[in-house]
Amino acid sequence: MKKDLLTLQDITRDDLEQIFELSTKLKKERGNQDFKPLTGKSVGLIFAKSSTRTRISFEVGVSELGGYPLYLDQSKMQVGRGETISDTAHVLSRYLHGIVIRTFAHADVAELAREADIPVINALTDEFHPCQLLADMLTIKEYSGKVDNSIRIAFYGDGRSNMANSLILAAKLTGMELVIAAPEEEAPSTDLIGDAKNIVWEKDPLKAAEGVDYFYTDVWVSMGFEEERARRMEIFRPYQVTARLFEKAKPQAKFLHCLPAHRGEEVAAEVMDSPRSIVFDEAENRLHVQKAVMSMLMGK
Ligand code: CP
Ligand code: NVA
Repeated sequence: MKKDLLTLQDITRDDLEQIFELSTKLKKERGNQDFKPLTGKSVGLIFAKSSTRTRISFEVGVSELGGYPLYLDQSKMQVGRGETISDTAHVLSRYLHGIVIRTFAHADVAELAREADIPVINALTDEFHPCQLLADMLTIKEYSGKVDNSIRIAFYGDGRSNMANSLILAAKLTGMELVIAAPEEEAPSTDLIGDAKNIVWEKDPLKAAEGVDYFYTDVWVSMGFEEERARRMEIFRPYQVTARLFEKAKPQAKFLHCLPAHRGEEVAAEVMDSPRSIVFDEAENRLHVQKAVMSMLMGK
């Protein structure tokens, strides 16, 4: 694997298989294992945005691997008062064995990784959320037995969000069929899709549901976009994931959501709280995949 995990472009199909294998093993052996590759190591967890799953799964994950997790509120660090990212990267490299960071601009995380001698893991930027997709793909593998071109996944909502972008990269990595149901104003990035034939944008939410194995959605107002709330509520309204969409899908179709969810906005409560919904398996898998990634990147 490369030094850092900033987007899914940093991993190969082989890396992904290794992550699946190790996560599955760690999941099975949880609470009864002496695999401690982070013994004597400290991992800084820098957060500039709110988090429930990411913070907790990384803190618990580092600790279960034998390491020491340091939660760092970015607004309380000197980088918020003008210290450069580069100086911060050099200093942190003298203390820590790895950095996990959630912030706004993806370019800041890329710069931190470039300047740091230690591995950097992206825990969400405005543009990408690779750890979430690793957990999502593990969940798909658990339910479908594979993650390849036999899987059809439909994402509903903000086609330009960090989740839509990350799904595009996941589809490129695995060959999964991805349809992004989004309005024109927030249609997916054609730059990111490139010439991939397995990824399409569909304006019609009902058409997008045809033959789907997994429905996926995310909040309509991502962190950092709060001032656009009124506009977003209006343009995404037709893209709510409802029970009606499942009538068009495969009989066993399931519902995924990175969470946090807003019932009545991006997803109807009857879908979120139905047996179709596998969102808590998905959330649990964050812990297992991140432990696998940290041991591969920082456990040497
Ligand atoms: N899905 C996810 O990253 O959740 P948090 O924002 O709670 O970390
Ligand atoms: N798109 C959401 C994902 C939250 C996990 C956000 O960035 O707020």
